[in-house]
Amino acid sequence: MEEAAKLVDIAKYPIFAAEDPAAQRFYEASRKIYEQQGVLALAGFILPKAVAQMADEAAEVEPKSFKQVKHHNVYLASDDRQYPADHPRNRQLTTTNSTIADADIQANATLRAIYHCRELHKFIAHVTGKSGIYPYEDALSPLNIGVSRPGETLAWHFDTSEFATTLLLQAPENGGEFEYIPRTRSDDDPAYQRVGRLLDGDLSEVKTLAIEPGTLVLFQGRHSIHRVTPVKGNRTRLLAILTYDEKPGQRMNEFTQKKFYGRAA
Ligand SMILES: [Fe+2]
Repeated sequence: MEEAAKLVDIAKYPIFAAEDPAAQRFYEASRKIYEQQGVLALAGFILPKAVAQMADEAAEVEPKSFKQVKHHNVYLASDDRQYPADHPRNRQLTTTNSTIADADIQANATLRAIYHCRELHKFIAHVTGKSGIYPYEDALSPLNIGVSRPGETLAWHFDTSEFATTLLLQAPENGGEFEYIPRTRSDDDPAYQRVGRLLDGDLSEVKTLAIEPGTLVLFQGRHSIHRVTPVKGNRTRLLAILTYDEKPGQRMNEFTQKKFYGRAA
């Protein structure tokens, strides 16, 4: 049996028996939830002992993380000068966090068995409606760990990629909540009014996603605005970010690598 099968709660999440009727029902139910809600959160996907090991390994390489303070609008795009600076399109927010690049994660890290697990790729492809799911192949971007220390926060934004696959390794004592508004916008409609209400402090549409260490999350971040609230207490929030593409052989370009990791490789 594959190494990954020992790390996953396969009784609850039968991703290694795709031909099995129970597994097929699980695949289908997962796809429906993702389609309808824009997010799929599988609590306890990774077994507790394995998560603890992954968190320990991540903490070991945490000093190698690259810290950034970023000023950005929620669309993560250059400002649009046809709107004033305080317009929802251009309003500036501040994000502070650190990232551990793939090259700085141990070659034999437990997490890698999950990232490269073909059954997991098939499952993600099914849920997201892709013909295939493939790991990135440059040195820095495939498998990352996001580090949020006390006081740090990811401000409201839409992702530039269609969906994100994440796995919480360590939760902070307080704060560090993942908040979002499902399907805030579409490709055709940037939803400036809705975004404006949110940025003015109206949180009535905001949902909190229940995530604990070991929860695997597939999230459609391009259309659903989201943030991570400031981390409080002494414990750092550690989140594994598994970057995939529907085509094999993708590599992050040098310009983007420098932006995310402070270097290219
Ligand atoms: Fe995001």
